Amino acid sequence: APAPAPAPPRRRGGGGSREAAAVPAAAAAAACAGRPRPRGCPAPGAPGGEVNVLLWWEPFGRPRRMADCRRRYNITGCRLSADRSRYGEAQAVLFHHRDLALHGAQGLPRGPPPRPPRQLWVWMNFESPSHSPGLRGLAGLFNWTMSYRRDSDVFVPYGHLYAPPAPRPFVLPRKTRLVAWVVSNWNEEHARVRYYRQLQEHLAVDVYGARGLALAEGGVVETVSAYKFYLAFENSQHTDYITEKLWRNAFAAGAVPVVLGPRRANYERFIPPDSFIHVDDFPSPRLLAAYLKFLDKNKPSYRRYFAWRKKYEVHVASFWDEHFCKVCEAVRAAGNQIKTVRNLAGWFES
Ligand SMILES: *[C@@H]1O[C@H](CO)[C@@H](O)[C@H](O)[C@H]1NC(C)=O
Ligand SMILES: *[C@@H]1O[C@H](CO)[C@@H](O)[C@H](O)[C@H]1NC(C)=O
Repeated sequence: APAPAPAPPRRRGGGGSREAAAVPAAAAAAACAGRPRPRGCPAPGAPGGEVNVLLWWEPFGRPRRMADCRRRYNITGCRLSADRSRYGEAQAVLFHHRDLALHGAQGLPRGPPPRPPRQLWVWMNFESPSHSPGLRGLAGLFNWTMSYRRDSDVFVPYGHLYAPPAPRPFVLPRKTRLVAWVVSNWNEEHARVRYYRQLQEHLAVDVYGARGLALAEGGVVETVSAYKFYLAFENSQHTDYITEKLWRNAFAAGAVPVVLGPRRANYERFIPPDSFIHVDDFPSPRLLAAYLKFLDKNKPSYRRYFAWRKKYEVHVASFWDEHFCKVCEAVRAAGNQIKTVRNLAGWFES
């Protein structure tokens, strides 16, 4: 297993259009001052204390073994559980949006017992706004957000770059093919399919997935590594919505990503400007095709897309262990701030 990667920079509670209602810490502490301490009132910031994190729904209804956060990420004192009888002692409860949308708000915990005053309800979502039904009606319910957005309370991107003290030397995989694309959800309405249709008039693209060539299960990285370029086209275009299509399918495979997603400037908040090609860099798919053909014939120009590898390595997020452990860590790091996400839909869709 690769060494745990350092966390990417986190900007806690940037909040978009949310309002964080700050209540004096003393008032918050008073609610938990009873002796014995009321249930649900462990001090989250207590160093060395255990943090109980409850998963209200297992994502997509698939039960899984809970991660050992200490072994995998050197995060100690986490007790992750999907056992609802532990609700009262949980400092944080995670609600996965897709399952919440499926069950409706009536599926949320309802008293008795009442919602413990210090308990954090964490809204967790890794789909884009275009694929997140039912965002309305969730205002004022949650304390924290957890998503791929950098301004989430718990920011877990699909991947990130890190600069190890001594990066492993990068060896460019042997390239025998030009452009690959893996797509499972084929939708003619998607910008990515429309762009592909124009691009393939000028350039042969090997399409894998439901509509194309068969891909061995788990074989994406190996297959793509033989290609010079990979179409890291997102299913929808939103702020910070940059998925495993970039991190795993392209970067981990050692292919140069051709991206279609948020704007170039948004990508550059996460990765070096010379590590990728953006479709917006070209006035037309025809000119992009011409550029890719140029790079195919010009090795030094092509190799420049790997210069950043001297300094950085790629970390691809591991669903869901990394996510749950990160929440645990964030709960421990949090102070006594009281916070409610007032305008979830407005923020997430911005
Ligand atoms: C694990 O975390 C502890 C405390 O944060 C730190 O002192 C230690 O160096 C870390 N170990 C590794 C292997 O990163
Ligand atoms: C969490 O949000 C609820 C609902 O707005 C609020 O009553 C509670 O005080 C918040 N708790 C924390 C710890 O922020």
